[in-house]
Amino acid sequence: MDQGRPPGTAGALAADPVRVLVLHGPNLNLLGQREPHIYGSTTLAEIDRRLAESAKELGAEVRALQSNHEGALIDWIHGARGWADVIIINAGALTHYSYALRDAIAAVGLPTIEVHLSNVHAREAFRHVSVIAPVCLGQICGFGPDSYLLALIAAVNRVRAMRNQGVVKE
Ligand code: DQA
Repeated sequence: MDQGRPPGTAGALAADPVRVLVLHGPNLNLLGQREPHIYGSTTLAEIDRRLAESAKELGAEVRALQSNHEGALIDWIHGARGWADVIIINAGALTHYSYALRDAIAAVGLPTIEVHLSNVHAREAFRHVSVIAPVCLGQICGFGPDSYLLALIAAVNRVRAMRNQGVVKE
């Protein structure tokens, strides 16, 4: 049942899913064990499960990948051109200094949303800088696992708006 949705749109959403690549950077594989007073007790697998569940409701398809290696993340960003409509990325500490990651996001030109579990602006000074922020649509931080879910909603809405404006092919 698609309650609250205009009649007839459920099929259209299913037939034309928004494809979302979710990238998790260094150390995020340790979520649940890693500094739980900062990052909470939710594991990465659980975050990916919640994303997949929300994606179903939103008519989106999510592929989620994690790596501790900058080059792997860059390769996946390049590869996203063939599949993804939009990227959600938590680049971990790479956020604060990886010009290579920033250049990769700029190079592929896919709309990208930056995510952090913690409120990076309320932490150490080095975390206040994001070198990827200028090439992202926006940044969502401080809401724990919900940061990803908020990003997913924003990502889907943005792609649908672009499709409606004819900015991208359906
Ligand atoms: C983080 C914040 C970064 O500063 C840190 O290096 C991380 C996680 C977050 O999700 O809050 O690894 O991206």
